[in-house]
Amino acid sequence: MYDTVFKAATTVVEGRVVVRDVGVRRGVIEKIGAITDAAAALEVPCEGRLLMPGAIDLHAHLREPGGTRKEDIASGTAAAVSAGITTLLEMPNTNPPTITRAALAEKVAIAKRTGHCNIRFFMALTARNLDELEQAMDDPGFAGIKVYLGSTTGSILLTEFDPLTRALDRIPALFAFHAELESVLLDHRDRVPDPQAGDHHRLRPPEAVVEGTRLVLGHAATRGRRLHICHLSAAGELARLADATTGSRVTCEVTPHHLWFTHKDTAVKGNRLKVNPPVQGPEDRKALREALKNGLIQAVATDHAPHTVQEKDRPYAKAPSGVPGLDVMAPCVLRLVQSGEIPLPRAFQVLCENPASIAGLSTKGRVEEGRDADLALWDLDATWTVQGKDLGSRCGWSPFEGETLAARPLGVWVGGERRV
Ligand code: NCD
Ligand code: ZN
Repeated sequence: MYDTVFKAATTVVEGRVVVRDVGVRRGVIEKIGAITDAAAALEVPCEGRLLMPGAIDLHAHLREPGGTRKEDIASGTAAAVSAGITTLLEMPNTNPPTITRAALAEKVAIAKRTGHCNIRFFMALTARNLDELEQAMDDPGFAGIKVYLGSTTGSILLTEFDPLTRALDRIPALFAFHAELESVLLDHRDRVPDPQAGDHHRLRPPEAVVEGTRLVLGHAATRGRRLHICHLSAAGELARLADATTGSRVTCEVTPHHLWFTHKDTAVKGNRLKVNPPVQGPEDRKALREALKNGLIQAVATDHAPHTVQEKDRPYAKAPSGVPGLDVMAPCVLRLVQSGEIPLPRAFQVLCENPASIAGLSTKGRVEEGRDADLALWDLDATWTVQGKDLGSRCGWSPFEGETLAARPLGVWVGGERRV
């Protein structure tokens, strides 16, 4: 007897699109194949519908503690689930920042009380917290180590590289890099007189991430470590990754906003597209989409970074960087499937399989017997024109308003339990 049987669902098994029954028991996918009608407590008819693993977001800022007017763990995880994401890796630039075991424990406790999906927490590397990081590593709530090579919203900038080298030698965890390099940012800070939102990409030029990527590739090579670069934004970064002999040791992610927009959109949308790293030119967007298709980029991640409308309505120089993304991540990728830009199995890879393996979540990310029943049911024929009122994030706005994406999921299950 299964708790739930998904009947005749379209899904992807071992890279191929197939139609199967999927039987779930005690939170785990127990059988994929033909399942007789009497064998389920609950049957979900799935003819013509897509059953995908819950997406795994490697990069979300949920603002708790310290910024809960923008988002909190309850509202962020609820927004995630309603958009087909069932696991989140949360970022450490909260207030206080997640740089101690105590701060990690506080977040884990809040998530246990209020969270709606699976969540783990990055800690940030500072010049002084190596021991804390080393001891936090075995905590089941620990996701990895975030390294800020350049300053950004509420950031914990790493100002010296010596602690990084020591951390890489000592701690066998996932290292994720914000790769904009501070020296390049400082060099360009005053280059535009009276800058506006449409100039954001000039103050933080592609060179910043190209140089940061070079530094990360160097560490991957000399330390023999697998490293991860966050939110790719520039064709130049991709060229560096493609050239690197150590390429296979570095994974990377791209956000929905970098796949969709360019600085021409920032000139129109203003601070609502002010984000670090900035969206760059049309040729960068084209290269990012191509790399998503051909595998040079392994994962899509949100960099969900909500701010209030009031904060975004300030003048350019005073408005914080960051855009929300949980509501749109999977609908963006499935829109690319609808328009024929990427094949369906590739969507499964970049939203589910690859993030699971980058994050070391061996029980997640695939429709496979024995894996967790974190699942989302989609109507791949349906579309959604994004409107503020539909959004789950507490911030209540999105740079995607007015864009047409794939419709959001019809049902979502976390550990076999229906949440949407
Ligand atoms: C992020 C934020 O607001 O927390 N902002 C952003 O522009 N992406 C910080 C970050 O990830 O850089
Ligand atoms: Zn971020």
